[in-house]
Amino acid sequence: MSRDVTVVDHPLVRHKLTLMRAGDTGTAEFRQLLREIALLLGYEVLHDLPLTMQMIETPLAPMESPKLEGKKLVLVSILRAGTGLLDGLLDLVPAARVGHIGLYRDPETLEAVEYYFKVPGYLEDRMVVVADPMLATGNSAIAAVARLKEAGAKSIKFLCLLAAPEGVMAFQEAHPGVPIFTAAIDDHLNDHGYIIPGLGDAGDRLYGTK
Ligand code: URA
Repeated sequence: MSRDVTVVDHPLVRHKLTLMRAGDTGTAEFRQLLREIALLLGYEVLHDLPLTMQMIETPLAPMESPKLEGKKLVLVSILRAGTGLLDGLLDLVPAARVGHIGLYRDPETLEAVEYYFKVPGYLEDRMVVVADPMLATGNSAIAAVARLKEAGAKSIKFLCLLAAPEGVMAFQEAHPGVPIFTAAIDDHLNDHGYIIPGLGDAGDRLYGTK
């Protein structure tokens, strides 16, 4: 895979992902695991967050010390499963701004259809992290990033939990400058656009809607 894909294969990530893949893991546990794994993935995806220096006083001496430029970061959830990752990312960076993009997959064509788009202003000045657990065909991710570029975003990263090789290739072709961060790249997509072996439908597993 190209250098623009980072597979975060820390043992804690791999362990939690195994629990999430297991079909008998229930909704509450699945949701909790996704939130926890988002912290670990977030640590990687946000490794180059901009910092500013600030004067502080320790109990013993004044010093100049780095702080996050909190308002610089925008986290964008691709509805609905992206919200499971978003919750963990917000635990890491509570001051981040948040955007939502509503996309569903047309069950016939597997194309992404947009039904909602609400993002913070001044995207051109911010780092944007787009979150969606499953990079399957890549259609939703490609459409979401295209809309964010239209809205002015210049610094974009894509964060998922699982990717299919087909989705990675399609995404990189559409958006070559946008790095992908994922916990694993699985084997293939089936005829219905599901990742194999995968973990099933992330939204259904997250919200118990099956
Ligand atoms: N979306 C999911 O939730 N799961 C897949 O395997 C593919 C797309």
